[in-house]
Amino acid sequence: MSYNKRLDGRKFDEVRKMHAKVGIIKRADGSAMFQIGDTIALAAVYGPRELHPKFLQNPERGVLRCNYDMASFSVTERKKPGPTRRSTEISLVTEKALASVIDLDLFPNTVIDVFIVITQANAGTRCAGISAAAMALAHAGIPMKDMVAAISVGKVGDKIVIDLDKEEEDFEEGATDIPVAMTARGKEVTLLQLDGDVTKDEVMEAIKVAKKGCDEIHKIQTKALKEIYKNE
Ligand code: CDP
Repeated sequence: MSYNKRLDGRKFDEVRKMHAKVGIIKRADGSAMFQIGDTIALAAVYGPRELHPKFLQNPERGVLRCNYDMASFSVTERKKPGPTRRSTEISLVTEKALASVIDLDLFPNTVIDVFIVITQANAGTRCAGISAAAMALAHAGIPMKDMVAAISVGKVGDKIVIDLDKEEEDFEEGATDIPVAMTARGKEVTLLQLDGDVTKDEVMEAIKVAKKGCDEIHKIQTKALKEIYKNE
């Protein structure tokens, strides 16, 4: 089915308005907020700190532990508090999306805890969480080989579009959603999920579009990180 004009009037490769702020939670070792459209993600990093219980410690390398949570007031229909299968899956893919840029060998026996809370959700929350968490890790002073940004791309009707909102995700019989995370310099894909039907060529096109979106997010992340050191 043809999708000639986006529901909110954006161009097919236009990302929603973005905003980032670093250093939002004083008690955390690092913290950041990332907003994209009406989706808001907060991230707080604690550590590296000794991992308890001790049997979970790895004498060879540190452990990155991510926890994604959606506040009960973040969606129109109140979300029951507590973990769900969805939040467990998102926590796991977030860990995988971030782990490759951190040199965990430097921190044996420790854990780096990353808490992500979605305070307002309008699609693309796992990606917003990853973009926020990467800034929070950098703010915590964790040595990182590269920065990570994430954006959702997808197919609505017959078009590949970037940064779907909830209305687009639910369009007709449902859009194909492809969250992508990418490193800033290396352009390595650290997350690629796919929910729906697309051809191989469409996936390749989607990744190309995601790269452009991630480049835009990387610029905003860098600016937000520089901002905090300017003011300190
Ligand atoms: O948020 P993301 O696109 O990464 O993940 P999803 O599982 O595809 O969820 C898409 C959207 O559905 C979320 O961003 C929320 O706007 C909405 N949602 C909701 O309204 N209630 C939930 N319990 C879970 C998701």
